[in-house]
Parts: sequence; C-alpha cells; structure tokens
Amino acid sequence: MYEKLLFGFVLTTLLNFSVQGSTLRIIGGHEAPSKFGYYHASLQNLTGSHVCGGAVVSERHVVTAAHCVQGTEPQYIKIVVGTTNLDEGGKQYDVEAIKIYNDFNFSERANDIAMLKISEAFNLNDIEIIKLDENYLNENDTVILTGFGAVQVNGESSRLMHILDLTVFSQEICRYAMRNSRAVLDNMFCTFTRMGEGTCHGDSGGPLIKDNKLVGLVSWGIPCAVGFPDVHTRIAPYADWIQKEIVTF
Ligand SMILES: *[C@@H]1O[C@H](CO)[C@@H](O)[C@H](O)[C@H]1NC(C)=O
Ligand SMILES: *[C@@H]1O[C@H](CO)[C@@H](O)[C@H](O)[C@H]1NC(C)=O
Ligand SMILES: *[C@@H]1O[C@H](CO)[C@@H](O)[C@H](O)[C@H]1NC(C)=O
Repeated sequence: MYEKLLFGFVLTTLLNFSVQGSTLRIIGGHEAPSKFGYYHASLQNLTGSHVCGGAVVSERHVVTAAHCVQGTEPQYIKIVVGTTNLDEGGKQYDVEAIKIYNDFNFSERANDIAMLKISEAFNLNDIEIIKLDENYLNENDTVILTGFGAVQVNGESSRLMHILDLTVFSQEICRYAMRNSRAVLDNMFCTFTRMGEGTCHGDSGGPLIKDNKLVGLVSWGIPCAVGFPDVHTRIAPYADWIQKEIVTF
C-alpha cells in the first residue's frame, strides 16, 4: 500500500501515540532559516520522536490532520514549538484535549482535520499564530511546506525543519493520477512540482502556507516524491469551524 499515513493511531493499545505505516517527510527541500516557521508545531510521542506536523492557530490551539491523532489520547502527545532544530531550543507543551472533525472518514481521508487544545497558553515568544486563508487556491499558485519529515526514503524523521516551495496542481489531473489510491475530493488539493520534490514520512498534518496564511495540511499521497502529487486538506472550507472551535473548545 502507498499509505502516507501519519502517525496517529494506536495499533495495539490506546496507551501509545505511535506511527502506523509511515509518515511523510519533505524530499528535495532545504533547511529552514532559523526563526522561520514558528507557526509549525511538532507533534511528538513521549520519547520525543516527531510523529506529525501541525499549525498554531491561536494561543491555545493547533490544527493538524485527523489521521494523525485519531485513536490516541491527549496525554500521549507532546507539542514542540519555537525551533527549527528539535534538538536545540523550543518549548514543549502538553495537550489537554483532541477534537476530530465530525465527518472525518479515515479510509477516504475525507475531512482530515483536527484541533488540539494545549494545557496552558503558548508563550508568544515561542510561536507565531498563523492566520487562516479563506480564499480558494488557484492552479499554479506557489505554497510553502514546512516539515520535520524524513528527507530521504526510509530515513528517520528529520531533527531540522525543512522547507519546500510546491506548486498547486490541476485538480482534474490529480484525480486521474491518484485514481488507484483514493478519490481526490473537493475539500482536498494537490501539489506537484517534479519527481524528487514532495512529502515523505512525518510530514503529515504539517502546514502549507501562502502569503503567510494557512492554506492546507498535508494529508495523503504516495511517499516519497516518487512522481505522484501530494494531497492536502484545504483550510478554506474549514476556516469557520476552526474559528468557532478556537472560541468554544
Ligand atoms: C516514539 O516513536 C519512536 C519512533 O517511532 C519509537 O521508537 C518510540 O518507541 C516511541 N515512543 C513511545 C513512547 O511510543
Ligand atoms: C467512509 O467511507 C467509506 C467509503 O465511502 C464508507 O464505506 C464508510 O462507511 C465511511 N465510514 C464512515 C465512518 O462514514
Ligand atoms: C499552469 O501551468 C501549466 C504548466 O506551465 C500550464 O500548462 C497551465 O495552463 C497553467 N494553468 C493555469 C490555470 O494557468
């Protein structure tokens, strides 16, 4: 199977936060400059392994892919923010609660979005709150992906944040290219630049931004940059839900 699964599920017991299959990581990018991407949250397990990415959307909330956190419990996830090097600096936060979008469908990856509430407010020196983009993307728009995913096939998650410019790909051609995997729904969009550039294990849930606003979260694909598009959850259709949850959750 070509699962681009992020971490997320607890396979054996509900007591672990672990990776099922592999998570996506960035292939073909470069190291992020220091101080870049402070809206990027690293979701980690209790021994400090990066499992998925996420985006800081308020002083108390992170959005990520639902498949990253389904089946786990808040106490098994730690959030690290404020560094482009996971071995240096940054601050770790506890998760108080997980809210998975109601209509998330794991097999279809439909509505692959979830919010995490942090136990205490983030220190604003550690983070940048990313604004949500409520506009739809156009084909050929450039989006910026950040991630701590593997930088080579079968590699470990990277301890250094990587960054990669990606191009929004034709929805129609993407549907066709991915027809043997799963349907590319309207609330998903694809990126593809060239073979050798794209997501890999560990990038799931990670933010895609445009003009400094959040436009997407890495969801699924055929890892790692082997010539297929990467498929992401669009933010625009969920912007109202996220805003509401920031206030009520
Ligand atoms: C965290 O993930 C790493 C890499 O997958 C694994 O080796 C380690 O056992 C995990 N730790 C826990 C507490 O699950
Ligand atoms: C998820 O989608 C599949 C395929 O369309 C469907 O068979 C299944 O019932 C759905 N699951 C849920 C929980 O809605
Ligand atoms: C996007 O770029 C491709 C390749 O340059 C081009 O064929 C296509 O027409 C462009 N699409 C739009 C909507 O501009």
